[in-house]
Amino acid sequence: MFSPMVDPELVAPNGPPEEALARAVTAALRAPSVFNTQPWHWRLHDGVAELWADRDRQLATVDPDGRLLVLSCGVALHHARIAVAAAGRHPVVTRFPDPGHAGPLAELRIGGPYEPADEERRAYAAIAARHTDRRPYAAETDIPRETLALLRDAAESAGAHLHVLRDDQVPELTVAAAGASMTETADPAYSEELNVWTHRPSPAGDGVPVETAVRPVPRRVPVRDFAPGADGLAPGGGTDRHARYAVVFTDADDVRAWLAAGEATSAVLLAATVHGLATNPVSDVVETPVARDRLAALLARIGHPQLVVRLGRGTPAQPVPRTPRRAGP
Ligand SMILES: Cc1cc2nc3c(=O)[nH]c(=O)nc-3n(C[C@H](O)[C@H](O)[C@H](O)COP(=O)(O)O)c2cc1C
Repeated sequence: MFSPMVDPELVAPNGPPEEALARAVTAALRAPSVFNTQPWHWRLHDGVAELWADRDRQLATVDPDGRLLVLSCGVALHHARIAVAAAGRHPVVTRFPDPGHAGPLAELRIGGPYEPADEERRAYAAIAARHTDRRPYAAETDIPRETLALLRDAAESAGAHLHVLRDDQVPELTVAAAGASMTETADPAYSEELNVWTHRPSPAGDGVPVETAVRPVPRRVPVRDFAPGADGLAPGGGTDRHARYAVVFTDADDVRAWLAAGEATSAVLLAATVHGLATNPVSDVVETPVARDRLAALLARIGHPQLVVRLGRGTPAQPVPRTPRRAGP
């Protein structure tokens, strides 16, 4: 179980709002994002932190509609508000302050004193510890039902839903993932985009380092090969036999829903980290229409699939190298 240590310096509860916001958006830099593009920027002024989508960082081939871009912004928004809440101040969030959607995606302000729940404190501490682990997870016991229920609650409280696939549904995910992989890797523009974001010049502070990619090994549900032909991270002895696959889904399928899906993804990843689970967001299965439709069918079409999260027991003795981050908000 992850120790709930909170850095008391991160957001001074009684400090001026500008300082608290600056520290919160710095914490949000650790947010996971598609291809580690960190496709957002914050504008801080007059006691407000505005969250803007950075369209220059959109993945033209993988994410032509910008849904994973907005989802990634939602993850950063949730990280920032958890940082404020954990410091004992009420995070006041206005989503889409500009109804025409031409402006920022959200605004964050510092409200009055707030008594954070224990889960919020621990979620904040998990921001620094969380990372994507692409190795197959250990063949151990199943994830307790109570933990999965907590993850579902975390997604709901952030405005989206989570469906943990039943064992008999996993083969359909396998078919979706294999199909998505075949479609994407057959497209030279995809290979080019992947190559750009896995071979970043070191000052860029973004992208997926090859050392965090895992070379292909037989597993139940294939994962995206981030470093074709390279060695990457040793896969270890896991089999994924006891991994669980959770689909983040929403009622609608618009920008508002994608932002909520991102906030829910953050809530799920941080709660999973708190409860000692390794995590891996998986988006290739929502990137191609055919695979996304298969996922929708798995949900009995009660909602729109936005992302899958693989969950399981990692191998903490062999840590995954840290991924870089940009210098500023
Ligand atoms: C919207 C979204 C989609 C992602 N898609 C994938 C994916 O398909 N496969 C994968 O291995 N990681 C995926 N990731 C994880 C990112 O690659 C990862 O967060 C990023 O490289 C930063 O590394 P970190 O999570 O270890 O901090 C995704 C993350 C997000 C937020």
